[in-house]
Amino acid sequence: MQQELIDKYGRKLDYLRLSVTDRCNFRCYYCMPEEGMNFVQREDLLTYEELDYLTKIFVNLGVKKIRITGGEPFVRKGIIDFIELLSNNKGLKEVTLTSNGSISKAQIRKLAKFGVNKINISLDSLDRKRFHEITRRDKFDEVMACIIELLDQNFIVKLNCVIDGKKNIEDIVPFIKLTEKHPLSVRFLEEMPFNGTDKFEVPEWNYKALYNYIEAQFPGIQKITDESNSTSVNYKVPGYMGSFGIIPAFSRTFCGTCNRIRLSATGELRTCLYGPPVSNLRDVLRSGAGEEALKTAILLAVAGKEKDGFEAEKQIPDGSKESMSFLGG
Ligand code: GTP
Ligand code: 5AD
Ligand code: SF4
Repeated sequence: MQQELIDKYGRKLDYLRLSVTDRCNFRCYYCMPEEGMNFVQREDLLTYEELDYLTKIFVNLGVKKIRITGGEPFVRKGIIDFIELLSNNKGLKEVTLTSNGSISKAQIRKLAKFGVNKINISLDSLDRKRFHEITRRDKFDEVMACIIELLDQNFIVKLNCVIDGKKNIEDIVPFIKLTEKHPLSVRFLEEMPFNGTDKFEVPEWNYKALYNYIEAQFPGIQKITDESNSTSVNYKVPGYMGSFGIIPAFSRTFCGTCNRIRLSATGELRTCLYGPPVSNLRDVLRSGAGEEALKTAILLAVAGKEKDGFEAEKQIPDGSKESMSFLGG
């Protein structure tokens, strides 16, 4: 019988978020300081061979969906070949990506060829100047060109937009209007405390404030069905082609249906974004241990998965100072 990853609350973990690099070509304020960070040395990263070996073990343990994250996945050399390798794994129903939009046309064509047809893109503003302030990079045109190319090539596109009361409230309405003529989903996210520093303020624009604001601007919005284990609660404006969602990433209302497990670029295994690493699979692998030892490490980690992100964060007494670029989102 196929082994599965089921935690003590009965949640089946079949969605692996695989970070392939902690590096990024942007410097979003909510993710890392302007000067960047002490990025990981190459020898500490899992190699593609190691990633391939480990993902096969996860698939043997019932993982059906892999999302490649970073940092920015496309800053790592060879990523396209690795995605091709993953897409050949018959045990996976879905290989998908979260990117900041640094994907070239040629790479998009290859992704389509491999059968990758869903991509989530981070985009926090439709205004060039605000985009620059938020990402600290003047790359708005490149990111928009990437999104347009993805839509032209019929990808299912979700935009992730982290909302900050002082930075991009004015973007909410234009983002929703963008869904009138484009079949994409825009998701507004509460900011989380993973900016690589110890400074963080509880988001004033939480999911309730976001909903109330949007409802006042677009009376008559309709609730639509959420995908199973969705992080977002989704709606649409009647008659619009696309939809929008709200992700209570800080309020953590969706932990009860969490089906996620995470592997960082250095092999750290986390059963919750808010919790500490519970094992390092790179170290287990490089110690010469075989598949059984790796499976045992994964099963033990899953057995210890906390009920929710609030319980998990208690395991980090001083609070997380991690960067999302390292955690993999
Ligand atoms: P879909 O698979 O398309 O539903 O996307 P996703 O929401 O799982 O992934 P994506 O990488 O687009 O992440 C969107 C936001 O949700 C990011 O800010 C993530 O960090 C956040 N998110 C994803 N998983 C979790 C989680 O387990 N806990 C919390 N609190 N936030 C999460
Ligand atoms: N809070 C909320 N979302 C964040 N992301 C990165 N850092 C944070 C944060 N501190 C989002 C990015 C990306 C996704 C994986 O996580 O916008 O789309
Ligand atoms: Fe890069 Fe994403 Fe972090 Fe922005 S949020 S700096 S795009 S990894």
